[in-house]
Amino acid sequence: MSDEQQRRQSLEQTLTKARVLIEALPYIRAYKGKKVVIKYGGSAMTDDSLRNSFAEDVSLLSLVGIKVAVVHGGGPQITRAMGQAGVEPQWVDGLRVTDAETMRVVQITLAGEINPDIVRLLGGHGASALGVTGIDGNLFIARAKHPRLGFVGEIAEVNAQIVSDLMDDGLVPVVAPVARGEDGAVYNLNADTAAGALAAALGTEKLVYLTDVEGLYRDLGDEDSLISQIGAAALRKLVDSGSISAGMLPKLRSCMAALEGGVQQAHILDGRVQHALLLEIFTPEGIGTMINTA
Ligand SMILES: Nc1ncnc2c1ncn2[C@@H]1O[C@H](COP(=O)(O)OP(=O)(O)O)[C@@H](O)[C@H]1O
Ligand SMILES: [Mg+2]
Repeated sequence: MSDEQQRRQSLEQTLTKARVLIEALPYIRAYKGKKVVIKYGGSAMTDDSLRNSFAEDVSLLSLVGIKVAVVHGGGPQITRAMGQAGVEPQWVDGLRVTDAETMRVVQITLAGEINPDIVRLLGGHGASALGVTGIDGNLFIARAKHPRLGFVGEIAEVNAQIVSDLMDDGLVPVVAPVARGEDGAVYNLNADTAAGALAAALGTEKLVYLTDVEGLYRDLGDEDSLISQIGAAALRKLVDSGSISAGMLPKLRSCMAALEGGVQQAHILDGRVQHALLLEIFTPEGIGTMINTA
């Protein structure tokens, strides 16, 4: 290749980069100032390169003026911390009981370890992140889901003002899913449910679940059955048919509740894919499963 050809090729590559940035323009314009809640879980939370990719995406969204709040889970870390603390899991009818000692470990792990870890990660990539728990500002008020399950909470009340104010100030709130109970005790919340309830209370544009599958499958065993878009009514039928199981159920139930509560779109995204968030928000193709009110 001649010098002239090389020079042209490198100019062409630089222009391609510019075009990619320009393609994002309509999306930046559409979402600037709008709110997005992201449930952060699965591999995107444990794999180092995916963690960095997530933090870059959230920082970029925040720095172009999209208001982002993150709600995180921590199931695997809690199980590990309980083992280290020598707390034996107790089961009632196949459900894990959260007694006072378990709840102590849950709170330490979520609020004392995982939450500041995420804040540090985001801060390192340029976002101004700030950690809160669902206890702060009475964000979530809980009641016992079932007397036999101990401190497993269901959400009785959401006071999203504290999160909304932080977002309006250009900060990225990172929320640990624990809550004060109506009885004054501390309760553990399902992070999927907490994310959906927060999105509904904030009236966000989008609610995004980052998880460990490509999206929602009509039939989990069949790769060709990935759903790229589904309306809330059709989703309700699918959920009622009983073919959705495990960790997908709380996400879908929360999506439906959030859409009913005024959220515009919900997404199930593959957190194992680098930059899944950017691809969803800034490209016309979109990825994963989009759920809307249609
Ligand atoms: N129809 C379905 N489509 C996609 N995933 C499903 C479906 N039914 C059940 N699942 C399960 O839900 C899981 C995601 O939830 P979960 O394991 O709790 O992850 P997270 O850490 O993101 O909450 C998937 O890995 C998959 O095994
Ligand atoms: Mg889960």
